[in-house]
Amino acid sequence: MAQVLLKREENIAIIRVNRPEALNALSRSIIDEMDELVEEVMKDKEIRCLILHSEKNFAAGADIKKMVECNEEEARAFLFSPTYNKIADLSIPVIAAIEGYALGGGMELAMTADIRIAGEGAKMGFPEITLGIMPGAGGTIRVPRIIGEARAKELIFTGDVITAQKALSMGLVNRVAEDDHVLDEAMKLAKKLAKRAPIAMAMAKKTIKAGQEEQSHNKGIEIEAANWAKLFTTQDQKEGMRAFLEKRKPDFQNK
Ligand code: CAA
Repeated sequence: MAQVLLKREENIAIIRVNRPEALNALSRSIIDEMDELVEEVMKDKEIRCLILHSEKNFAAGADIKKMVECNEEEARAFLFSPTYNKIADLSIPVIAAIEGYALGGGMELAMTADIRIAGEGAKMGFPEITLGIMPGAGGTIRVPRIIGEARAKELIFTGDVITAQKALSMGLVNRVAEDDHVLDEAMKLAKKLAKRAPIAMAMAKKTIKAGQEEQSHNKGIEIEAANWAKLFTTQDQKEGMRAFLEKRKPDFQNK
């Protein structure tokens, strides 16, 4: 059974993670499957808009079970940034339709979209710090650019999980919709965008990105990847992730 699905509705594509039993937590193999589907979207010149949407939960982050015992080198190989950058760099507009949990690497996936629509009951945040790590899939670069440095630091430093309304007030999402209508809202917007001039759309997207990237995005991603993987040499990373899996509170020793 495929762990990631690509659906087409006329000229709109939907990419969906399909691992409900783990709240759509993202493993290496899921990201590899997603990468292939993103490539398909990239090659299909008929597609005018991509929606990222998963049933019930957008994604509860990277798979902690698969990361807990990683060393630095394995952590580097686990990183999602190459695929996330591909999504962010698509020339067509990308909409994230967020239901349920969007945490850590899940929220970082949502941050690759141009526009985010969240359901009223969505819960979002970057809880990596509670696991002894930090965001490693573009979060340290994209989040401050989208919501500003101070708000990004508050979210990333506290690891707090916030409501859709709070996310809206911070500018983390563009709109909030009723839970049952998140995908409908995203589809309505996608259909509108699909009618706009595609070359001008791609140019506007590219130009906005260029304007935002006074300091090179790729350099930032490189620094993030190295520092993220380095955290897998600490005992606190092992403690944080083991504590999660053992369903207890972590006891960080600053080691
Ligand atoms: N990785 C692996 N498994 C996960 C998971 C994750 N990120 N999130 C949830 N699951 C699994 C749980 O282990 C559980 O599996 P079992 O039934 O086998 O025990 C199942 O999904 C259901 O989860 P819970 O029982 O925990 O459900 P809940 O409703 O009590 O809590 C939750 C929901 C608050 C989202 C909680 O699951 C949670 O805190 N998950 C972890 C969130 C997180 O820390 N994400 C960040 C990961 S690190 C990251 O993303 C790094 C990066 O930079 C890329």
